[in-house]
Amino acid sequence: MSNIALPFKRYTITSALPYANGPLHIGHLAGAYIPADIYVRFLRLHGKDVVYVCGSDEHGAAITIKAKKEGTTPQAIIDKYHAQIKDSFAQFGISFDIYHRTSEQLHHELSQEFFLNLYEKGEFIEQVTEQYYDEEYHQFLADRYITGTCPNCKSEGAYGDQCEKCGTSLNPTDLINPISTLSGKPPVLRETKHWYLPLDKYQPWLEKWLLEGKKDVLKPNVYGQCRSWLKSGLQPRSMTRDLDWGVDVPLEEATGKKLYVWLDAPIGYISATKQWALDTGNDWEKYWKQQPDPADNTCLIHFIGKDNIVFHCITFPSILHAHGEYVLPENIPANEFLNLEGEKLSTSRNHAVWLHEYLEEFPDKQDELRYVLTSILPETSDSEFTWKDFQARVNNELVAILGNFVNRVLVLSHKYFDGKVMPAEGLTETDRFIFSELERYPQHIAASLSQYRFREALAQVMNVARLGNKYLADAEPWKLIKTDESRVKTVLNVSLQIAANLAVLAQPFLPHTADKLFTMLNLEARDWKTAGGDTLLPAGHQLGQAQLLFEKITDEQVDHQLEKLARARQTAETVAKTIQPLKDNVAFEDFIKLDIRTAIITAAEKVAKTKKLLKLTLDTGADQRIVVSGIAEFFDPEAIIGKQVSLLANLEPREIKGIRSQGMILMAEDADGRLDFVAPQTATAPGSIIR
Ligand code: MF3
Ligand code: ZN
Repeated sequence: MSNIALPFKRYTITSALPYANGPLHIGHLAGAYIPADIYVRFLRLHGKDVVYVCGSDEHGAAITIKAKKEGTTPQAIIDKYHAQIKDSFAQFGISFDIYHRTSEQLHHELSQEFFLNLYEKGEFIEQVTEQYYDEEYHQFLADRYITGTCPNCKSEGAYGDQCEKCGTSLNPTDLINPISTLSGKPPVLRETKHWYLPLDKYQPWLEKWLLEGKKDVLKPNVYGQCRSWLKSGLQPRSMTRDLDWGVDVPLEEATGKKLYVWLDAPIGYISATKQWALDTGNDWEKYWKQQPDPADNTCLIHFIGKDNIVFHCITFPSILHAHGEYVLPENIPANEFLNLEGEKLSTSRNHAVWLHEYLEEFPDKQDELRYVLTSILPETSDSEFTWKDFQARVNNELVAILGNFVNRVLVLSHKYFDGKVMPAEGLTETDRFIFSELERYPQHIAASLSQYRFREALAQVMNVARLGNKYLADAEPWKLIKTDESRVKTVLNVSLQIAANLAVLAQPFLPHTADKLFTMLNLEARDWKTAGGDTLLPAGHQLGQAQLLFEKITDEQVDHQLEKLARARQTAETVAKTIQPLKDNVAFEDFIKLDIRTAIITAAEKVAKTKKLLKLTLDTGADQRIVVSGIAEFFDPEAIIGKQVSLLANLEPREIKGIRSQGMILMAEDADGRLDFVAPQTATAPGSIIR
């Protein structure tokens, strides 16, 4: 029996709202969704009053950038990805009570209410500052539209709000050498008014609430990040933006401005709860607001990935605190990152395992992925998913241990006793040991779960299956049946009790499998408190049919996935190579200084002792001249005699391998580095001008 302390009356559990700007991948699942879902299912199995909310984050530059890239509207983007994301979550059994969206009216209203509440309390600092503005695009730049060098770790490509390398949260003006991602040019500063949340003012409160109050509560990876931020001192942070997509700032003088996405998104947790309450006839305030009776308390837990820690540990709690009526998060069990095959997951480079693709390629194998991801969750440090490891864990653990055990027990019970549970009589020492182990496990697993140690908890469930496997292998009922049928009855009874316990214990982790197991055992799903029992299946109970729980992942399946990743890597490299960033503009006067003209190759030979060079004689209309060109890998000298080319004729002559080269032949280079001539489509007299 489990008696783990779950002292709160009510539980409000959130998972980070994913941006609706692309599909989900395994990193999402491992970061904020699988852990939360396990936790929530565990709470429900304890009969707790829990609401689990999530939804799409549909504002912010992530959405508008994507729309721009795809040449469509933000609305089209969020509609597409909201539907896809919602479906992936549902298929993986992530058991939200509601999956909402921040584009809903109700959310806009609640976000504005929050803003006005703080505004009317005089919490905001109003400040006119200079902000980056793109003169070519005539707009102020969202933080995400500005990149530059991180002032903290000096790495390139940091964003205006955060450096993804070192995790520091930034203001755009902190960046060294800022560049607008719209025009590719350095932005200019322009004056604009915004409303700032005085995080510096809340710093003493945060130190008390978070650093003192949560020292032994937060996971060390989370606590460490918070401490270092507070140590470097908090700055006021603007809660409004000059944008055209988002929640309107509800002030007359702020027409055209929007709420900062990191203000409205976490409020999305509350608006989702509100919508759920409307749909189900519940009182949303009970799940979010402090109640007069201290026993009528709510435990708020945010499951997130590590890049979201600052917003959930510092910004959002400060907002809730400033508002005053809300409960504060009890815990924020953030996970670190999941890597894939030795590299960071990357959406832009398509280095990822996409959930919608997995669902198609591995139909009906959601629990396999849940199992493997739970086994390797980045709970304390970054971890790594590889397809080989996926295969090994499925084949050697799910198939060979859990699946095999359950299948053998069921098959033997049908074979010997027509699928009936026989009484356990004359218990041996070993049988008693098994029952005492069964009694012990639920508490241990619960203890691990209540400390967010999901890997450890799942490993213990598998230990129960191992226990069963070993028990059955040692008892050898298939041999005993010839000599001692009554002992076989007991052995199968004990084994079936193990299987029934597994069904109960597997529920938070492997919901689809647990369902199948209950069907096979012909048992209704049971609460956590029933786990540990030795009579979950009473004697005489009729079992259901045996079915295979898992099948092996083949080498072909693994190879196929690895090839897919290799192809994606190649494409990404090609794209990176082909699409060179645009160069700075040049004046027309500079351009016309270039003498580019057509010419004809009249002679060609290899330059001795080089692989790449050809010595070409050209007729330029004005003269015959020698040009050395690095095209020998692609063209035979004989084959190009008589060819038209484009020549940069007034390039300063250069000595190459002892040959004076006068000018340069213009070549097009594709992503693989292959060269081809650039020339008029029809025969043109040598010396024709190109401009
Ligand atoms: N959309 C954000 C991300 O993917 C997470 C938002 S969490 C919320 O990083 F709290 F703001 F909702
Ligand atoms: Zn950095």
